[in-house]
Amino acid sequence: MSHESAAKAAEAACRYYGTSDVDGFYAAVWGGEDIHTGVYTTPDEPVAVASRRTVELAAERVAERLGPGRTVLDLGSGYGGPTRYLAGRFGCRVVALNISEAQNERHRATNVEAGLDGLIEVVTGSFQDIPYPAGHFDVVWSQEAFCHSGDRRELLSEAVRVLAPKGDLVFTDLMAADATPPDALGTMLARLAVEDFATPSFYLRELAELGLTHVHFDDRSEQARTHYVRLTEETRRRADELRDVISPAYLAALLSNLPLWVEACRQGRLSWGIFHGRRTA
Ligand SMILES: C[S@@+](CC[C@H](N)C(=O)[O-])C[C@H]1O[C@@H](n2cnc3c(N)ncnc32)[C@H](O)[C@@H]1O
Repeated sequence: MSHESAAKAAEAACRYYGTSDVDGFYAAVWGGEDIHTGVYTTPDEPVAVASRRTVELAAERVAERLGPGRTVLDLGSGYGGPTRYLAGRFGCRVVALNISEAQNERHRATNVEAGLDGLIEVVTGSFQDIPYPAGHFDVVWSQEAFCHSGDRRELLSEAVRVLAPKGDLVFTDLMAADATPPDALGTMLARLAVEDFATPSFYLRELAELGLTHVHFDDRSEQARTHYVRLTEETRRRADELRDVISPAYLAALLSNLPLWVEACRQGRLSWGIFHGRRTA
């Protein structure tokens, strides 16, 4: 992986999230706040409710580093559901670094509506080259964004560089399970315009090599299956209404692509969960 592949992946992510089809789909089916995998307590729970639960669970892991006077960096912040939760619930400052200006505009407007724009700064840029000095943040946070990286080694090293001593890195990501053959997930990767997924053992190895302590992976891979079943059900159920916000071709592509994610989860090929590590003093 190189700087060049990282730049290509960043451009691909920017294009992907900037298209009106993708924007319309995430806003309508995911709820337009939290666009990551949910943690479901029942198989029919609304996607938005389960996705918010993931934010709460990740926040619990780093709660002692949150609060007024603390600063969090959210890498790949989407529409800002997690940033508003963190700022609103804990009173911390949040810097939201995200490559998609289309999402950032919506993020800033929603922060104003929520009265949280004083605590959240939305910055357009790539997490491959974080525009902040070393040791600047108490917590570095990310959800389902590292899957878009073209150089995850560089990305993790950047994330750790900007962490303050004793600062916490917490992230969720969609991954290939460790035993998945490299070419088994091609159609899924293509929908997200990404080249490959990380694996849990890659992240665990890299976090340890970067010198983090308390490294932990809360493996919730079974939740990915429920999540993709729910996304498929909702896309089917709301197909008529979705035709007003996304093109017929994109809707058809989703209806054939989402069941492949369900099947990949059923075969144990995808993995998902919450990673946590702490920078030494
Ligand atoms: C699935 S969305 C998750 C958004 C948000 N974290 C959430 O959970 O609601 C992935 C996000 O990663 C962002 N992203 C992808 N590549 C990026 C990069 N190189 N630098 C910054 N953000 C990036 C996208 O713009 C998008 O907002």
